[in-house]
Amino acid sequence: MTNESIRLHINGKTEQVEIEPNRLLLDVLRRDLGLTGTKCGCDDSSCGACTVLVNGQPQMSCLMLAASYQDAEITTIEGLASGNEAAELDPLQRGFMIEGGAQCGFCTPGMILSAKHLLATNPDPTDQEIADALAGNLCRCTGYMQIYASVRKAVELTRERQPVEAGTR
Ligand code: FES
Ligand code: FES
Repeated sequence: MTNESIRLHINGKTEQVEIEPNRLLLDVLRRDLGLTGTKCGCDDSSCGACTVLVNGQPQMSCLMLAASYQDAEITTIEGLASGNEAAELDPLQRGFMIEGGAQCGFCTPGMILSAKHLLATNPDPTDQEIADALAGNLCRCTGYMQIYASVRKAVELTRERQPVEAGTR
């Protein structure tokens, strides 16, 4: 099979990869680019562990041919923090740390990216909206309550981080 040269924009960085046209995005992220935060939980689109954001939308990377995403903007869990210090973690990452939303952690990157999309489109979701947004992400460990609490904590942390507008004090 002839390789194709594909350009992907991942976490704000442009990557050029030479790949066979049948390679899955999940595989290219993990093996070619070393972005192992994206997990392979089932390989048959039933667990959501491989979720990444493609042009802001959650997608299962185990279903996607990398070659179809020429020039797409892709965000993986590695792209969420703005630095290496805990203070610069995304509010969702902090929320999961505070509320114990990650136990073995295998589902966590996918959960966080699905939640990231939710909060981008609905910054103050109800409990039901959180549960609905994460319905495609399975967790074997937490029983989900801590995960939902982690998302609610992220909402709170985001609110605290926003500058108080003049005249509202
Ligand atoms: S690894 Fe993609 S849905 Fe499970
Ligand atoms: S924390 Fe272990 S699968 Fe979710």
